[in-house]
Amino acid sequence: MATSVQSPAPTLKGAVGQYKELATERYERAKELDADTKFGAASYPEWLPVWDNEKGEVYPPLEPFDHVEHGKDADPALPNLLKEGTVINDITASIGAEVTGVQLSQLDNKGKDELALLVAQKKVVAFRDQDFANLPIEKALEFGRYFGRLHIHPTSGAPKGAAEIHLVHRAAEDKSALEFLQSRTNSVAWHSDVTYEQQPPGTTFLIALDTPKAGGDTLFVNQVKAYERLSPAFQERLAGLTAVHSGYEQATAARNRGGTVRRNPVSSIHPLVRTHPATGEKALYINPQFTRYIVGFKQEESDYLLKFLYDHIALSADIQARVKWQPGTVVVWDNRVTAHTALVDWDDGQRRHIARITPQAERPYET
Ligand SMILES: [Fe+2]
Repeated sequence: MATSVQSPAPTLKGAVGQYKELATERYERAKELDADTKFGAASYPEWLPVWDNEKGEVYPPLEPFDHVEHGKDADPALPNLLKEGTVINDITASIGAEVTGVQLSQLDNKGKDELALLVAQKKVVAFRDQDFANLPIEKALEFGRYFGRLHIHPTSGAPKGAAEIHLVHRAAEDKSALEFLQSRTNSVAWHSDVTYEQQPPGTTFLIALDTPKAGGDTLFVNQVKAYERLSPAFQERLAGLTAVHSGYEQATAARNRGGTVRRNPVSSIHPLVRTHPATGEKALYINPQFTRYIVGFKQEESDYLLKFLYDHIALSADIQARVKWQPGTVVVWDNRVTAHTALVDWDDGQRRHIARITPQAERPYET
């Protein structure tokens, strides 16, 4: 019987440790713009990624800045956000909501303050039928800037001239996820965005451009509930602990695939439990993608405790929400009190193109 010779399964290259990356392939621009292909042309070509915004420039390290938390200024009745005709439906009992009848781009500053508060309370909110994708990119950036200094991602592609946009882009016909799944059992990679920064993001935006008809949902977990589920004795054990969050493995993974590293990697020490400045809620602040070890613990102790916490958030399906994308959807979530994971569960080569705007917030603190 003839046997086919298979190429060996891909292995993780370089020192990326537990960091899990489903890197997308560099795409052929002409193909993404070609309407005469199986999945047609990208709907928003001006939002397609380039890696040449910097022309070889290395960005200086990020400087500290004073973050203003607008959620603290909001009218809790949310009169400027949820007006007549607005429909808000909870996705689950403890996390997530879906809103129709609000056009985010039209909000005044009071509406934006209320948006920050609503999102801190609900953790993640999907706004349907938004117009950001059809407006000049600068409009979306201007909107995002209200919530904090916009983060420029150290490794991702961005639209031409808009380095502050982080793009999640899997081109049509890109089936590299299948290759990834030859060496891993699933695509789940829980994280909160860029927690290696000294001032990681708070209120954060994802703008759907092109998404698969089914598949490619994003899963969010409520880290406040995850903390509250722990016993008082265990909460007490966590109090005052800090952990190192590292961006080195992400940079190494980018270099391994010949990608851009536009700012030298950093690590930061953050509390394991952080307090939200607007709600006062306490949330677990650990994630397997970027948290490396607990300061002052021996390695085995740290691994043991972190593994328990990672399993706790991953297994607690009863404090998670699965957000489905549609054209025009803008998802707003609070990175301080949630973790999330993309789900790369479709394999027929449909395009997935989503833009992230990532305002940075305060340095995490515990009260
Ligand atoms: Fe993310």
